[in-house]
Amino acid sequence: MFGARCLLRALRSCTSAPCPRPKPSARLSVRDALGARSTNGERVKVQGWIRSVRSQKEVLFLHINDGSSLESLQVVADSSFDSRELAFGSSVEVQGQLVKSPSKKQNVELKAEKIEIVGNCDAKAFPFKYKERHPLEYLRQYPHLRCRTNALGSILRIRSEATAAIHSFFKDSGFVHIHTPIITSNDCEGAGELFQVEPSSKIKVPEENFFNVPAFLTVSGQLHLEVMSGAFTQVFTFGPTFRAENSQSRRHLAEFYMVEAEISFVESLQDLMQVMEGLFKTATMMVLSNCTEDVELCHKFIAPGQKIRTYAKKQLFNWGVDLHTEHEKYLVKHCGNIPVFVINYPLALKPFYMRDNEDGPQHTVAAVDLLVPGVGELFGGSLREERYHFLEQRLARSGLTEAYQWYLDLRRFGSVPHGGFGMGFERYLQCILGIDNIKDVIPFPRFTHSCVL
Ligand code: 4AD
Ligand code: MG
Repeated sequence: MFGARCLLRALRSCTSAPCPRPKPSARLSVRDALGARSTNGERVKVQGWIRSVRSQKEVLFLHINDGSSLESLQVVADSSFDSRELAFGSSVEVQGQLVKSPSKKQNVELKAEKIEIVGNCDAKAFPFKYKERHPLEYLRQYPHLRCRTNALGSILRIRSEATAAIHSFFKDSGFVHIHTPIITSNDCEGAGELFQVEPSSKIKVPEENFFNVPAFLTVSGQLHLEVMSGAFTQVFTFGPTFRAENSQSRRHLAEFYMVEAEISFVESLQDLMQVMEGLFKTATMMVLSNCTEDVELCHKFIAPGQKIRTYAKKQLFNWGVDLHTEHEKYLVKHCGNIPVFVINYPLALKPFYMRDNEDGPQHTVAAVDLLVPGVGELFGGSLREERYHFLEQRLARSGLTEAYQWYLDLRRFGSVPHGGFGMGFERYLQCILGIDNIKDVIPFPRFTHSCVL
């Protein structure tokens, strides 16, 4: 076993060791090749997939993409390299010199000295055609190949950047990241949209169930986060969430990613809304500045007309009935197509954990949803019921007292006012990119009647 100091020393000495530089050609990603500052004829090796082939009398032009950027690298080769195998979709390794390009379309190009076909592509059978812009619905039929197109390439690179931006927002704001469980015995939302987890074979434990209690895929990490906020004050989780909703709508998935935060010592919805707003704005600014070309592609070709706007001041509503998709759309439109916070929902419609507002006949809870144009509900959150007796009564009314003794304990041992929220990550991407269907912002969508791959 390494001691911490010893491990640090060992790592430092590793990183300071001279890095064996492969000669004569250093491997470069397309992104790094395109961004190369000096083109002093250094020999490099680039690997990727052919995006276009143009054969002229004496020269052959290839465009190679390896997923590191939207832009492909132009390879210029002598026509003697021309071969049928150099086709759209084939994988290749090109060695040569990075030189300044005479064309205005790119800064640098790769003057090929060696081209090796790594894997052939049967261009006739390949579902994507050279130069064609295929609609997203068409691409959806090929979940194993669509990531090789410009559209999905951009969306998934943005997804990766947005994930990092969200982590960075929470880290910079002093939150502790918690891995909440995927298998759980609670139904946090109480909506009965659970997938049950059982072993596929009954051989090992014939009469009992595997965990001794019914177990499910999580619908939310909130209750586990509440445990952790009782020790770390500010916590977040960002992981897969599962809902057995019988919906094929353009904003529902059976497996989606949720960003959830829980904050102790929070006493007002306003404070919670500030964090929600901060998360949305900070993550979006980072995505916009780090993925400019990819975002431009989405706005130009996938969702023309979509622009990220500076949104006006938020609007607040008090409401008395549950909101359906049509109501959400109406509200957002009525407010001039800007994000709208809706607060204080009827207690009868909401889960047991939301804080009672004690507001007489209206009888609402301190809940907040953020509705956004084109998507509807993006965030759902609330203050939590931190008062033992209030919670005890709510649980008793729902017949949950026994199962939630541990949750009541949190109110017995140093309870504090607290609150939190969850943001659907795919809906967030839909919102900032203007993508109509949620199935296009996740690599492998799962929904009713579909679990491909
Ligand atoms: O509003 P929800 O159900 O809230 C919760 O689960 C809370 N326990 C979260 C918390 O306070 N920690 O879900 C939160 C968000 C929704 O606003 C929506 O954006 C997204 O998760 N969401 C879905 N996204 C895709 N497909 C589905 N089936 C979704 N269901 C909810
Ligand atoms: Mg909700």
